[in-house]
Amino acid sequence: MEISNKDAARALLRWYTEMGVDEAVAAQPADFHSWGGDKPAPLTKPRAAPKPVSETATPVFNSQTPTIPADEAIAAAKTIAAACDSFAALDQAVAEFDGCPLKAGARNTVFADGVPDADLLVIGEAPGRDEDRIGKPFVGRAGQLLDKMLAAIGHSRTENVLISNVVYWRPPGNRAPTPIETSICRPFVDRLIDITKPKVLLLAGGAPTQALLGLTGIMRARGVWREIITSDGGSIPVMPIFHPAFLLRQPANKRLAWHDLLAVQARLREG
Ligand code: URA
Repeated sequence: MEISNKDAARALLRWYTEMGVDEAVAAQPADFHSWGGDKPAPLTKPRAAPKPVSETATPVFNSQTPTIPADEAIAAAKTIAAACDSFAALDQAVAEFDGCPLKAGARNTVFADGVPDADLLVIGEAPGRDEDRIGKPFVGRAGQLLDKMLAAIGHSRTENVLISNVVYWRPPGNRAPTPIETSICRPFVDRLIDITKPKVLLLAGGAPTQALLGLTGIMRARGVWREIITSDGGSIPVMPIFHPAFLLRQPANKRLAWHDLLAVQARLREG
C-alpha cells in the first residue's frame, strides 16, 4: 500500500495529539527539559546580549526583554518579588515578568484567584488549557472538584480561599513544569506566601509538594502536617493533599482526601 505525504502528515499530527503535543509554541522545536542555566533559553525572538542584573536596582522584565539564561531569570525574579509589598504589586509583577520560557507559549498569565487575605492558600501545579484560556487557576474539571472539596469544609474562593500554582503559564501539552521553570517562578510563590500569611497552606499534588517541601511521593506525603518558614521567621502549617485531577482519575482515594480535609478544617478552626 502506498502512503501519501498527506496521510503521513495526518498520522504524525494524530500521534502528536495523542502524545499531548496539541499546541504550536514556536516556529522551531525546543527541548524545554534540557534547558539549563548554562544554555540559552529556547528562542522565539532573536537573542540579544543579556541585560546585567543589578543588585540594587529592580530589573525590568517585560515583553521587550529577550529571553535570558535561567540563573539570571531566577536572580531577577528574586529581586522583583522582594520589591513587592502587596498582593496587587506581586500580581502585576508576575504579569510583567518575561523570564520564564513558558510564557512564550501561553495565552495568559495565570497568577491567583480568590481572596488575598484568606486564611487558606491552595497552591497547585500549573495552569491547564482552561486556565490558560480564562487566565485564572483551577477553572477546569479539576478546579470544579477543588471548589467542591473546599465547600465541604466551609471555604470558597469568593470568601476565604486564595488559589495559585507553582508556575504561572501553561506548560505545552499540559506536561509537568520542569524544575527550572519551577525555580524561576519560585521567588514569586515564596513572596505570595510571605505577603498573604495564610493560616494554612495546602499543596495540591506532587509538583507543589516537591517544589516547596522537597518531598517526592504524594501517597506518603499527603495528610501530614509540615511547616514553611516565611522571610520574617513566621511558621505556616502546610499540608500536601491529592491533586483533584488525580481524584477524578482515582475516585477511591477521595476517602483519604476527605480525611485530610477534615484535619485542615480543624486546624483552621483552632485559635
Ligand atoms: N491544575 C493545577 O494544578 N492548577 C490549575 O490551575 C489547574 C489545574
